[in-house]
Amino acid sequence: MARILITSAIPYINGIKHLGNLVGSQLPADLYARYMRARGHEVMFLCATDEHGTPAELAAAKTGEPVADYCARMHMVQSELAQGFRLSFDHFGRSSSPQNHKLTQYFAGRLADNGFIEEVTEKQVYSNADGRFLPDRYIEGTCPNCGYEKARGDQCENCTKQLDPTDLIEPRSAISGSTDLEVRETKHLYLRQSALKGELEAWIDSKTDWPVLTTSIAKKWLHDGDGLQDRGITRDLNWGIPVRKGEEDWPGMEGKVFYVWFDAPIEYIAASAEWAEANDKSDADWRRWWRTDEGADDVRYVQFMGKDNVPFHTLSFPATIMGSRDPWKLVDYIKSFNYLNYDGGQFSTSQGRGVFMDQALSILPADYWRWWLLSHAPENSDSEFTWENFQASVNKDLADVLGNFVSRVTKFCRSKFGEVVPEGGAYGDRENELIDDLYIRLRAYQEHMEAIEVRKAAAELRAIWVAGNEYLQAAAPWSEFKTNPDAAAAIVRFSLNLIRFYGVLSSPFLPDASATMLKAMNSDDDTWPEDLVAALDTLKPGHAFTVPDVMFGKITDEEREGWQAQFAGARA
Ligand code: MF3
Ligand code: ZN
Repeated sequence: MARILITSAIPYINGIKHLGNLVGSQLPADLYARYMRARGHEVMFLCATDEHGTPAELAAAKTGEPVADYCARMHMVQSELAQGFRLSFDHFGRSSSPQNHKLTQYFAGRLADNGFIEEVTEKQVYSNADGRFLPDRYIEGTCPNCGYEKARGDQCENCTKQLDPTDLIEPRSAISGSTDLEVRETKHLYLRQSALKGELEAWIDSKTDWPVLTTSIAKKWLHDGDGLQDRGITRDLNWGIPVRKGEEDWPGMEGKVFYVWFDAPIEYIAASAEWAEANDKSDADWRRWWRTDEGADDVRYVQFMGKDNVPFHTLSFPATIMGSRDPWKLVDYIKSFNYLNYDGGQFSTSQGRGVFMDQALSILPADYWRWWLLSHAPENSDSEFTWENFQASVNKDLADVLGNFVSRVTKFCRSKFGEVVPEGGAYGDRENELIDDLYIRLRAYQEHMEAIEVRKAAAELRAIWVAGNEYLQAAAPWSEFKTNPDAAAAIVRFSLNLIRFYGVLSSPFLPDASATMLKAMNSDDDTWPEDLVAALDTLKPGHAFTVPDVMFGKITDEEREGWQAQFAGARA
């Protein structure tokens, strides 16, 4: 048994996430966590809301709530949606937690003690019209790297380059649009990432098994000069983690808070401390996941994120960890994703374009979305959501293949043998051939899951369902029954065992349907089929089962057209 620590990039607090956000981090992380638990490993799966910085302030200002209230409310909203999608976090924390305050201040203190923090008197953009210093995100202008005209002062969302506001060409205030900006002096802290360049480079070079998407972005920012520029880690905001050196005041830093990108990844660690508090555990119980000197040396740590997050997780956060000179666990594997597009364009939170998590669940159950999103995960390139494609996948894979198999087998058995596993007959060549085929497919499925090849795993799972359908079609117990009821009984018995087997195998993708299958098979044995022959002989003659309700309804053309129209405009 291994110990696996899994984190998903923590979603910004402002607003409900769209399906593109979901498939880029939280959902595949959940798939992996569920799989690893099913294989008997000890898993710690963490996520949280990313609550600091200007997006939170801006969103709260819009609703008129105090920012702390806004964040508390939106955390609940996001937490409920996460449950709706069956995201199986061990803890869904908050970057504004006391634990994160403490750890963030601690890390800043360690970095300072080790000479990785520089105090810089710098010039900052002050907006005369707005009467305040403008944080990075409150400044918009043209990206010096790619020419995109709506680049923000912290990052260009077009080319993903991390920026400083003074890099922008023709800057303007995002609050008022005013170009009456001036530059004034103020003191800030810088993380001396450049001093860690050699260490970071050696570490990234040692990760030869990382996905190309992750390594290529990491290396690009490492080598293309300024990816490793020293980064300002303080801001002039009210909402955030006050700048302190561990538990001490930091002279000259009064009224300043840490930059959101400094404290957000530290929340991965803090979330486990929050988990400990919420579950009556000790500090040692969470530290054994994170401190290699306190038990974490045998932990495998896997992170999930969209590609725009990769620089922060391959360079900035590791620099924080390394610079602390403490034995905190560094990430072992980073699974990153491209973007999901929506019907010929981009999903967009600011423009309300696409399908958002709450809307998705109001139309169809979580499994439908989980299946489409995971089986079309944007792994090797961007992928696109279209309603036609969604309808086709749900109707074919879920309704025609999996759902239909379950329904045919259980209904046929009920009508001919009653709601118990029938006795009589024996398994023969046909069953053995299927077992041979499933043996190979199961191994492939496991390999893809272990390698976090999400699409390939989905394709193999679908192939495993298809194999059962083809077996049933060829074995044709309905015609066999007329001449040889015993032979039909053996086919049905084997098929009922296949349903239970599908319930176990499908659980990482389709937790609700899996529970339905296991419940219908009246089985609480959800152990992974290490021994295939035994697994397919679990339900014995005489074992009672029930016929489940229709597992997956088909999406009609009218429904599809209705949703297409409903989601054509911007979200209200
Ligand atoms: N909130 C960021 C986003 O949605 C992700 C932060 S991940 C963390 O893009 F590492 F900083 F926590
Ligand atoms: Zn750009």
